[in-house]
Amino acid sequence: MMMDGIVVALFAGAALGGWDSVVPTVKNSTAPDPQDVCHGYKADNVVNVPGVGFTATLDLAGRCNVYGVDISQLGLSVQYQSKNRLSVSIIPTNLKQDNVSFYEIPDDELPQGHVDVDADPDESDLVFEYSNEPSFWFKVARRSTGDVLFSTEGAHLVFENQFLEFKTQLPEGHNLFGLGETIEDFKIRSGSTRTLYNADIPDHVGANLYGSHPFYMEDRYQSGKLQSHGVYLRNAHPQEVLIGEDSLTWRTIGGSIELYFFSGPSPAEVIRQYQHVVGYPAMQQYWTLGFHHCRWGYATVEEFESVVDRYQQAGIPVETFWSDLDYMDKRRDFTFDPETYPLEKFQGLLNKLHSKGQHYVPLVDAAINVVDENVDYNTYHSGVHNNVFMKNSDDSVFVGEVWPGPCAFPDFLSFNISHWWVNQLDNFHRIVPYDGIWLDMNEVSSFCTSEGQSCDHPSSTDHVLEDNGFSGPNIRNLEHPPYAINNSVTPNVLGGRTMPPSAVHANGVLEYDWHNLYGYDEARATYVALVEQVMDLKRPFLISRSTFAGSGKYTGHWGGDNHSKWPYLRYSISQGLSFSMFGIPVFGTDTCGFLGDADEELCNRWSQLNAFFSFYRNHNDIQASPQEYYIWPSVEEAAKKAIEIRYWLLPYMYTLLFNANKRGDTFLRALSWEFPADESLAGLDTQFMVGDSLMVAPVLDPGVTKLKVTFPEDALWYDWYTDKLVKKPSKKVKAPLGHIPLYIRGGSILPLQHPGSTTRESRQGDWTLVVALDGNSEAKGELYLDDGESLLQEKTSYTTFTVKDHILTAKKSGNFIDPNHLSQIKILGVKKSPKTVLFNSHNVDFDHKHHTLIVNLNSPSSSEQTVLSNQDTDWLDHLTLEWM
Ligand code: NOJ
Repeated sequence: MMMDGIVVALFAGAALGGWDSVVPTVKNSTAPDPQDVCHGYKADNVVNVPGVGFTATLDLAGRCNVYGVDISQLGLSVQYQSKNRLSVSIIPTNLKQDNVSFYEIPDDELPQGHVDVDADPDESDLVFEYSNEPSFWFKVARRSTGDVLFSTEGAHLVFENQFLEFKTQLPEGHNLFGLGETIEDFKIRSGSTRTLYNADIPDHVGANLYGSHPFYMEDRYQSGKLQSHGVYLRNAHPQEVLIGEDSLTWRTIGGSIELYFFSGPSPAEVIRQYQHVVGYPAMQQYWTLGFHHCRWGYATVEEFESVVDRYQQAGIPVETFWSDLDYMDKRRDFTFDPETYPLEKFQGLLNKLHSKGQHYVPLVDAAINVVDENVDYNTYHSGVHNNVFMKNSDDSVFVGEVWPGPCAFPDFLSFNISHWWVNQLDNFHRIVPYDGIWLDMNEVSSFCTSEGQSCDHPSSTDHVLEDNGFSGPNIRNLEHPPYAINNSVTPNVLGGRTMPPSAVHANGVLEYDWHNLYGYDEARATYVALVEQVMDLKRPFLISRSTFAGSGKYTGHWGGDNHSKWPYLRYSISQGLSFSMFGIPVFGTDTCGFLGDADEELCNRWSQLNAFFSFYRNHNDIQASPQEYYIWPSVEEAAKKAIEIRYWLLPYMYTLLFNANKRGDTFLRALSWEFPADESLAGLDTQFMVGDSLMVAPVLDPGVTKLKVTFPEDALWYDWYTDKLVKKPSKKVKAPLGHIPLYIRGGSILPLQHPGSTTRESRQGDWTLVVALDGNSEAKGELYLDDGESLLQEKTSYTTFTVKDHILTAKKSGNFIDPNHLSQIKILGVKKSPKTVLFNSHNVDFDHKHHTLIVNLNSPSSSEQTVLSNQDTDWLDHLTLEWM
């Protein structure tokens, strides 16, 4: 025991001397490699659990104490949870014996995978095997091929109270994705380290950013076939993953090992299987998909209003205007500045927006300003009264510093938090009926915490250094754990630019053990508050900066503080694809970039690229020069063009969000996910798919007007703008400024609606069906409709469209009646001009040019057939089009 304490203390002392060179970290090559000094475990006491798997104990094979205190006995549980999911959990069983403190995320905080009723180990796609030679190791293989997906052979399991390590082999030239949040290429490079520790870092390439997603997918190409699998570590502690040429080493400084393996085998299935465990994303209101405008730096309500007016004059449809913290009184949450944003004036403006079908989203920072008793700020006073704030170890309120100065931090584990948080959001909504909430700074960010950051309010430095107690004596070194993760903030300790790890949540839970869940918990509490009280059972619209595995259930996410620079335009795609994998389909980066000045060309390209993301928002920093779309005529034109296309596509995009919510489908997709037979697409992150039907090939560099586009060979491609079939498999296409190359995949049917200036107006537009035939002259598509806002829907419809043998049909299920008319059907790829076209068995006029068949149902001859929608029936109930 004494020995353990001394080891820890020595490291702590070293840490204070500047950890970069001395303290063990991934950067320090002189730090002992746990694989050299540890001896692993031996499995024993194997007990079969019929129909599920087995359990065993793992006994320490020899003392190690490399970066903490060894845990001498662990429990292993292997569960074949479903045909495609296997879980391997390794947790301490006898902490008393080791006399250590240790913390594991409780079951009810983060969802766990459960054994399906029909699970059968013999029928699983996955097989688990283990060995004790030379120490315990295990492998997970794909049953059908014998391919080993994960193997810790040759590496010891290290399990200490402040350091866990396991290491798996990877095939050379691996294709690995996920492990965020970070900004880098989509495919993870060998030699990189992914650090998962939520931090307020303005989008440094390769750094740990705002959220943590301990999930990866590996794609393996074998004999022209892609087989993918996924691995999720249900562990929220500070951690990092070292990616080598042929290995992956996972290190975490607390918690347990709870691994889930997903057998895929397609990427889409891996992503669905992962979301099945962490939770499917929340369904959105229709207006989520509109164009959003925001900036930090509209100093007065007049300035804000002039932006609203100028957008309107320019004829650029803005669905939602956002407020950054400019509106607040002294930068305090839930207040309006009486001087610059007088309430009455703002309420008038908000009424105006609402009357036009537009929306409003204000920023809410996580931190609450600490004020004196005599200052009238009920949010803080009632927070103290309700005991909802984070604490120091002496039970005083922990005080850090954020925009308003000294701040307390809501503790989303505290007993009264729901009640208090609902009240804040509800009272605010009564004054300013906002439509959604923007959750910022919730990593949680605090400018004044640990060493090197001066605080002029004493209690903020009043932190403790030792573990103040979970299930063992005080031997965890919280501030300077023996192994330091590669946290990129300055100072790069765990408490850098956030609360110190010794800050205390309710029930004594330490920030050390909970840090990565702060934003997740805040989003959950906000979601619940909005749905249950504030928003009258409408689907909450939330965008949160900090996220964790499963946050998509509550919130969308934006890419944080990116720079107005070309590489960040490009990274938008890899960020978007990663968040698709993470089950957060509502994602977008700050269009035109946040930090620094955007120029016209960059903003032009960006305004068009992000129009194909599910969340499309222009946002800008207070220091940066203006970048509203109307600032430059060319950007205005480009944005209008892209928004128009986007609004035509709203029904298609909404259906994608529905499928994400129902079964874990993705919105933004990598080409490799859609064309698994084509190995050349692995890791391609300069183009992407929106759903399965559209491919976007944006210009990502300045001065480019011709672009080499990759057209997956396995499909026909039609140019969105000309309807023409793309002839060559790969060629240079024209991409002048203001034009974003966009292609429809043959085999798709897109339900489109004539766009209006808001999503509400767009829902009243006439319908057009665009059918893009594949090589067999077939196609299919889907359309989901409902009221666009309610959490619980009384009426919905889901329609599948099919083309086969020159007949287009619709099959609708559900009782939602859409009141709008179908005015046009366009079929791309009809090679021979038909002699007759029948619409619902009636002859109709048609045009056939350049292999496109167009049927206008508004023409006099067909008007009789177009009036299909009334209160009992809509066009989706009766639709056949036959050409011969
Ligand atoms: C940080 C956010 O990332 C940014 O979007 C916002 O503008 C500033 N906070 C100010 O609120």
